[in-house]
Amino acid sequence: MDAGARILELKTQIAHHDQRYHVLDNPEISDASYDALLRELKSLELQHPEFASPDSPTQRVGARPATKFLRVTRRQQMLSLGNCFNGDELAEFDRRVRKSLGAQSPRYVCEPKMDGLAVELVFEGGSFVQGSTRGDGTVGEDVTQNLKTLRSLPLRLHGSNIPRYLEVRGEVFLKKTDFQKMNEGLLASGQEPFVNPRNSAAGSLRQLNPAITAARPLSLFVYEVGALDGRTFASHEEKLRALSRWGLPVNPWRTGAVDLLAIERAYRELLAERASLPYEIDGLVVKVDASAHREILGRASKNPRWAIAYKFPPEEVEALVEDILVSVGRTGAVTPVVALRPVFVGGVTISRATLHNEDELRRKDLRIGDWVFVRRAGDVIPEVVKVIASRRTGLERPFVFPAICPVCESPIAREEGAVVAYCTNRRCPAQRSGLLRHFASRGGMDIEGLGDRLCQLLTDSGLVNAPSDLYKLSVAQLSSLERMGDKSAANVVAAIEGSKRIPLNRLIYALGIPEVGEATAKSLAEKFRDLEPFRCATTAILQEIPDIGPEMAKAICDYWERSENQELIDALIAAGITPEPPRPATGILSGKTIVLTGTLAGMSRDAAKAAIERCGGKIAGSVSKKTSFVIAGSDAGAKLQKARTLGVPILSEEAFLEIIGGSESPAN
Ligand code: IVH
Repeated sequence: MDAGARILELKTQIAHHDQRYHVLDNPEISDASYDALLRELKSLELQHPEFASPDSPTQRVGARPATKFLRVTRRQQMLSLGNCFNGDELAEFDRRVRKSLGAQSPRYVCEPKMDGLAVELVFEGGSFVQGSTRGDGTVGEDVTQNLKTLRSLPLRLHGSNIPRYLEVRGEVFLKKTDFQKMNEGLLASGQEPFVNPRNSAAGSLRQLNPAITAARPLSLFVYEVGALDGRTFASHEEKLRALSRWGLPVNPWRTGAVDLLAIERAYRELLAERASLPYEIDGLVVKVDASAHREILGRASKNPRWAIAYKFPPEEVEALVEDILVSVGRTGAVTPVVALRPVFVGGVTISRATLHNEDELRRKDLRIGDWVFVRRAGDVIPEVVKVIASRRTGLERPFVFPAICPVCESPIAREEGAVVAYCTNRRCPAQRSGLLRHFASRGGMDIEGLGDRLCQLLTDSGLVNAPSDLYKLSVAQLSSLERMGDKSAANVVAAIEGSKRIPLNRLIYALGIPEVGEATAKSLAEKFRDLEPFRCATTAILQEIPDIGPEMAKAICDYWERSENQELIDALIAAGITPEPPRPATGILSGKTIVLTGTLAGMSRDAAKAAIERCGGKIAGSVSKKTSFVIAGSDAGAKLQKARTLGVPILSEEAFLEIIGGSESPAN
């Protein structure tokens, strides 16, 4: 094969693998094999410069640094979105839309509002020729070279009906995990970490040296089209499907809505998924679908009248540090806790935030009296992001990490090189009540009524020293406690009694073995199926479990080496705890991974999920090669498309009902 043909072949292959990796999240080859292809292409292009071209994947990295960003004046202004913050404001938007459309009813498309950096990408004859930041909407900054380093941005579009000229609008962002990894890297090399994924995406894209951008794991989703020549789209859906077909990354999360109720449902669904999405969002964008309707609606000065951002509660706010304390956890770990003047963030009022350890406190140079940014992402405990230095008055007081435990007054020790400090007293009441709380928690023995306060009271009163003592409690003993009536005492005793039959994995989790979370507890239960073999397992046997490494294995063995832990198990068994081994999966869908997409006519998404789980199947959020099949309802979008691309079987709702209907009938 001659060099020209090989270069063409390599370019096609690399473009294909970029797609697999960055758009489909589903690579077919290892990073090393990918690098080898890229290296071969680079060297061929060097030897045969006549075949080099600006849309080659080798042009993504190491391009010449720009001295400053050039200005880009665009053909069509980049608008921004109007906001609404509640149902009334949303209804107002819908009312205006309906009024303008007269006799016609709008269909809306709802999609996540990405919390990143808006960009415009220009394609000419299918090749990526220019990319820019939003700037003031009309004039932006030319960041073409930097954008070329994004692997999810195809340098050439493929497929049919590609417009001669095409402006695509989208968002550059960092996935949460990439943000975390990147910050760890920055910290390790002594550099300042970024405050949040959005800032780091902006900072990474607006680098004068594209090689720096190339080293940052930026992602991209496209969601609109600006000016274009040579074709039109009848609807937003059609546009997104075309963009996706041409190889551009389109967010698969979207849902159609024909009325306010459906929009509100989409809003709640997205809000519920917010914490588990791999990227940050700050609302739901509601867009009129039909292009003809958009035309009628037109625009106001800065915003289109056919779309609105229905904003989520903010996740990051300013707060005043009233005090810094330490708390002692069930393992004895002593962690700083920041007491805040209460603020509303991420949908709830918070008055506390955690810092992981003393070093973090030092690094952030946090003092009592400081104003700080506090962030609450999803269900996680709020954290202090950064001190607002400009609000310092000079009256702030540094915090001195205590040398003795605030609860039991035993010394606090921090080993050389360790980041966490521990209370040295194994019998510290804080550790005991912490363990009790964990033992009774939802993922553990799930004992209703045994909350923080009662655990504290039980430990302080000496009624409960170890979790096994719970099973000896009488109603009379409980009702003797402060603010405890006979009725609630009886309820708690019943709940304790009811916890005796417990799945083995939940009991293992409840023990509070360091490093063992719910997922690990499940793996342990599946491996050992009973407490006996587990409590005498060696590190070698433990490491036969795929997700258990040497450190965790050692933590588990250390736990069992302590006699009080072996005694706890004996006492729990003597009290009548009977752990049940995990049931082998037997359902008709066992071993199957299933993805739901679109709207099902006959059942809610939750009902469908529950039915699948009852039949032993597993639900996944996105389609990959490992997906057993996709169940497609009406309005199915990108997931369906992806299933087709990957050759994953697609089932209609009827076919799915037939499967589960058959297996869920009383006869089975
Ligand atoms: S459409 C004219 N769709 O939100 C409408 N924007 O305040 C153009 N954004 O500058 C934007 N996710 O950076 C649209 N799914 C989405 C979006 C989205 C995030 C950003 C975009 C825009 C800002 C508007």
